[in-house]
Amino acid sequence: MASSVSAEPILEVSGLVKHYPLTQGILFKKQVGAVKAVDGVDFTLHRGETLGIVGESGCGKSTVAKMLVNLEKPTAGEIRYKGEDVTGLSGRALRAVRRNIQMVFQDPYTSLNPRMTVGDIIGEPYEIHPEVAPKGDRRRKVQDLLDVVGLNPEYINRYPHQFSGGQRQRIGIARGLALRPEVIVADEPVSALDVSVQAQVINLLDRLQSEFELSYLFIAHDLSIVRHISDRVGVMYLGRIVEIGRDAEIYDHPTHPYTQALLSAVPVPDPEAREHRERIILAGDVPSPTNIPSGCRFRTRCWKAAQRCELEVPALAVPAQFRLETGPAAHDSACHFAEEKQVVPPEEPPDDHTNGGV
Ligand SMILES: Nc1ncnc2c1ncn2[C@@H]1O[C@H](COP(=O)(O)OP(=O)(O)OP(=O)(O)O)[C@@H](O)[C@H]1O
Ligand SMILES: [Mg+2]
Repeated sequence: MASSVSAEPILEVSGLVKHYPLTQGILFKKQVGAVKAVDGVDFTLHRGETLGIVGESGCGKSTVAKMLVNLEKPTAGEIRYKGEDVTGLSGRALRAVRRNIQMVFQDPYTSLNPRMTVGDIIGEPYEIHPEVAPKGDRRRKVQDLLDVVGLNPEYINRYPHQFSGGQRQRIGIARGLALRPEVIVADEPVSALDVSVQAQVINLLDRLQSEFELSYLFIAHDLSIVRHISDRVGVMYLGRIVEIGRDAEIYDHPTHPYTQALLSAVPVPDPEAREHRERIILAGDVPSPTNIPSGCRFRTRCWKAAQRCELEVPALAVPAQFRLETGPAAHDSACHFAEEKQVVPPEEPPDDHTNGGV
């Protein structure tokens, strides 16, 4: 986790949308709908901060990441980098911004070209940005990067298959650092790794953050992974952020029923705490992003859903109990009932005492 988070925004995302057209017909393609992969996302990343983004598979996390590094063009919305809208940029101006926002990918097994040496993989960004490292300097720069991520600089001529999963992810991180970016978008950087290796890679990212004054957008499936690294956490559901705030706020006082359900699924090491914890099982499946429910998109699975939830889209706003807070620590929730302190699922049928709790 970053020790020096400033209040200065480095990335500001507002109203970000990515809809993929759904077409029918082979010769005469007709649009019959849209996959609403990202459907109105707002957040700010501050300098030196780690913002964790979590949510189930298909909720739009990678699509947000791809738009931030310009691998996908937004359908609508704005991405501001240091105050400048970068969504419409092209040519040299776009290249300059891209240099500063780099991505680390999920799967170190498929994201590294097997036919390239590690030196060529890590140094490839210099082909596009030769101004960062003149040709004669590149080998030394790549060796420095190998050293920085904890790999032996003598491995520079080896191929990806000669490395373990954790080492490969270190190579991916070294490549992400090659252009000395200010922002790293890490899309599930440890999900494909063994649990024993995950902590090592997270510790490395943590160290690099202070060493290079990086700001991170750290994407994960699981709230337990982002907790260790995030200053703030945003929870996504079906293309939108439904709750966002300082990590302690989200973990200790979640106000959105979806966050509460996700937290109830996080493993608790303490057996006593585990016993007293309520496990929330959500009804039904996530609706299709081609057919998003009206009003609150979570209502079809929510135990608090009322008629208002069908009619009104809840704004992502500070619930009353957190209203004293301002700035980066604010805690926003997109639930009509977020003002209530306690949101609990319906009571389970009473235990049959004759069973002695079995
Ligand atoms: N190129 C595309 N064309 C059409 N639909 C797409 C495309 N890319 C993604 N989608 C759809 O958009 C939705 C969001 O996908 P995305 O990959 O962003 O989710 P995710 O949260 O990263 O999921 P995961 O946790 O599985 O990585 C999914 O329903 C996906 O099928
Ligand atoms: Mg993804």
